[in-house]
Amino acid sequence: MNAQEIQGWVDSADSAFKACATLDDLKSARLLHTGDKSYISGASRSLGSLSPDEKISLGKLVGEAKASIANSLEAATKRLEDERDKKMLAEEIVDITLPVRRNHQGGLHPISIIKNDISDFFIEQGYFVEEGPELESGWLNFDALNIPADHPARTMQDTFFVEPLESGMVLRTHTSPVQIRTMLTKKPPIYVICPGRTFRADELDATHSPVFHQVEGLVVDRGITMAHLKGTLDNFARYMFGPDVTTRLRPSFFPFTEPSAEVDVFFNGRWIEWGGCGMVNPRVLQTCGIDTKEFSGFAFGMGLERTLMVRHGITDMHDIVEGDLRFTRQFGVGL
Ligand code: PHE
Repeated sequence: MNAQEIQGWVDSADSAFKACATLDDLKSARLLHTGDKSYISGASRSLGSLSPDEKISLGKLVGEAKASIANSLEAATKRLEDERDKKMLAEEIVDITLPVRRNHQGGLHPISIIKNDISDFFIEQGYFVEEGPELESGWLNFDALNIPADHPARTMQDTFFVEPLESGMVLRTHTSPVQIRTMLTKKPPIYVICPGRTFRADELDATHSPVFHQVEGLVVDRGITMAHLKGTLDNFARYMFGPDVTTRLRPSFFPFTEPSAEVDVFFNGRWIEWGGCGMVNPRVLQTCGIDTKEFSGFAFGMGLERTLMVRHGITDMHDIVEGDLRFTRQFGVGL
């Protein structure tokens, strides 16, 4: 080993590193020129067996050579890493001028959107949401609501009865049985909203559908009056139809409320019938084991299809039922 030889190793390592085109190439070159089997490593190992004089002079040369090879390696590594990064940036560039995908990604039906929206509105005020089953016992759908056995709503023309008929099961004709379910399982104060699917034996036409949706509201607390009902309906109507609408209550009759009323909204210059409401009939509260000396309540219920139709000027129920995307997309995706 002499100075010239050592310089030869340094030069050949340097030119090998410089010739590398990729980091992988550099890895092989590094093993060859700095690994255990390289000349320079062999030289380092053999220093121990040299005479003290040689050890000093050659040791210095070998040390300098190692440092120089390490420098070349570092320079080559930096050069190749920079090249790789530049290439990656160029290749992974995003062309923001490319046209977007036009595939529709799916979304909620307007009935689902309005249902969620109404739920959010009442949840904010401290109500909770109950859904209840669509297949309901006749007792909960009618009797517990003070609807007598001979009431016209209980005929085959109005109600879908479910076989076997002795089961007494029906497809719920309104969301009011969820009131009963709630009062039987929860103690007042009760503030609940029950949106859901309901069924009546109607033909599908421009204003009717055998499957439709209602939202029911029920409040049972101390000192609840019709003023609370009116205020709640006013707020709800403004949320649904705009800040300027007012509501009006017209005397009516429902077996489960006393007194009962129809609620109308003044919208687009005319009064529109929106739903039913009233003070929960004490007989209904008693059926549910609620002390009518301590508690009173109000309830209201309206159709979601009807609400949508009024609000958006939809004149044909078929549009809501059919689920044609050209119709539903106009309401946004509502996700
Ligand atoms: N359940 C009634 C209907 O379907 C609506 C209603 C609900 C009326 C609550 C009064 C109180 O017509």
